[in-house]
Amino acid sequence: MSRFDSLRSQLEACGQSHVSCHIDQLGTDAAEALMRRIESLPLAELPSLIQQFVLTPPACTGGDLQPAQCVSVDSRRVCESVSLVDESSLRLRGESMLVEGKVAAFTVAGGQGTRLGWAGPKGTFPASAVTGKPLFRLFAEQIMAAQQKWGRTIRWYILTSEINDAQTRAFFLDNRCFGLDRRQIMMFPQGVMPAFDMKTGQILFESQGELAMSPNGHGGSFAALLSSGAIDQMEGRGVEAISYFQVDNPLAPVLDPVFLGLHADESLSSGEFTSKMVSKTDPGEKVGVFGSMNGRLGVVEYSDLSTEQAQSVDDSGRLRFAAGNVAMHIMSTDFARRVATAGQDDLPWHRAVKKVSCIDPQTGDRHVPDEPNAVKVERFVFDAMGIATQPAILEVSRSAEFAPIKNATGPDSAESSKQMQSDLYGSWLEQAGVSVPRRDDGGVDGAIEISPLTAMSASDLEHVELPSELTRSGNFTC
Ligand code: UTP
Repeated sequence: MSRFDSLRSQLEACGQSHVSCHIDQLGTDAAEALMRRIESLPLAELPSLIQQFVLTPPACTGGDLQPAQCVSVDSRRVCESVSLVDESSLRLRGESMLVEGKVAAFTVAGGQGTRLGWAGPKGTFPASAVTGKPLFRLFAEQIMAAQQKWGRTIRWYILTSEINDAQTRAFFLDNRCFGLDRRQIMMFPQGVMPAFDMKTGQILFESQGELAMSPNGHGGSFAALLSSGAIDQMEGRGVEAISYFQVDNPLAPVLDPVFLGLHADESLSSGEFTSKMVSKTDPGEKVGVFGSMNGRLGVVEYSDLSTEQAQSVDDSGRLRFAAGNVAMHIMSTDFARRVATAGQDDLPWHRAVKKVSCIDPQTGDRHVPDEPNAVKVERFVFDAMGIATQPAILEVSRSAEFAPIKNATGPDSAESSKQMQSDLYGSWLEQAGVSVPRRDDGGVDGAIEISPLTAMSASDLEHVELPSELTRSGNFTC
């Protein structure tokens, strides 16, 4: 049987025969590219995946949910579901991991960033409040500062996708890797999945020779870490812990000793998969929360919480389901390998209903939908916590660590993030004795930026020459 005939019969068997019926109308190169794309699809798995995740609306998962047990280093945060842990011993433990070179940074930057609408990889977006440094530069500066502090080269792994990999690489080269050694950075693309017609489950075409593909979610990290050779490389260099964060949070601490110490503390964690959370500000906040379902920890989407669950409070008046996921995790290299090999099928697919412009491959007619017409499927990294034996969750301060840039305007936009960055750095300056102007709502009046190379925390400002006060509505950077 020829290669084409074999593909055609496989497509027929999985109910996708339309994908091959016009291949003979394509030029040789386009036909070859399409055949290669088809061969890369998990064809045998498609029928059940489509039945379960594309054609069937998901069942609500929040039913028998219990609050997740978390820990904090701040006694003011202690409540029914948050217990106190000792900061200094965790910090010491994490610092020794850094000094011993056991930690690598891992940024997931393979998303499409459709809500932000920036013409380029999200990591190239100008994010800092005064000088507009791109997100990638801010993380590079953190890595540089950590190298100076711990005296070790810190390896940086970056997940891209086939859509933004070349642009991301070019951006790093154009910027001379922001002063880092090119050899300490490894980029690798994640997998992709086709978009499906939401009524029929048929794979959609972007153009006559191309399927409509998109990245397979940040849960694709595990497979990509393994297939790229990143895990082998880490293990070869003595890296035991991977510090995972998203590209769109300029305040994400790339390497946090306390968090690392918690991950490594056998009495608190199995050292497989450890997460951070911030308390939800109000019941309606659109953030997934950590919770336990049938004894298994996971993250429940805000839309899956009933109003009653979202609003329920404990004896101290705190929201019971308050542990908001901020997408910062530490995973051991062993665990990442295990999930990528044996556990991948335990990571469920999640469906996202989208508008996808597509063509009829036979006629070439384009359909630009007004209403959602397609389902994209993604895996989520946090589903791996259900595979770990004893995942630990650390509560951290939202104002210190979380200022995401997701949207072009409004909440979680560049504007709101820059205000949060200025508010944080303003509070550091105040702790150092600088008078910082504030508005009636308490926010800093002006834009403030402190490079990670100058200070990684308020106490690092002790030896920095600072003005006694800042001018109202002005800019300050150091
Ligand atoms: P989001 O869920 O915010 O998605 O990703 P996005 O693609 O960036 O933006 P929208 O939804 O299209 O507007 C959260 C983080 O996970 C990464 C993103 O790059 C971002 O850092 N991510 C997301 C991946 O690396 N791969 C994916 O397939 C999806």
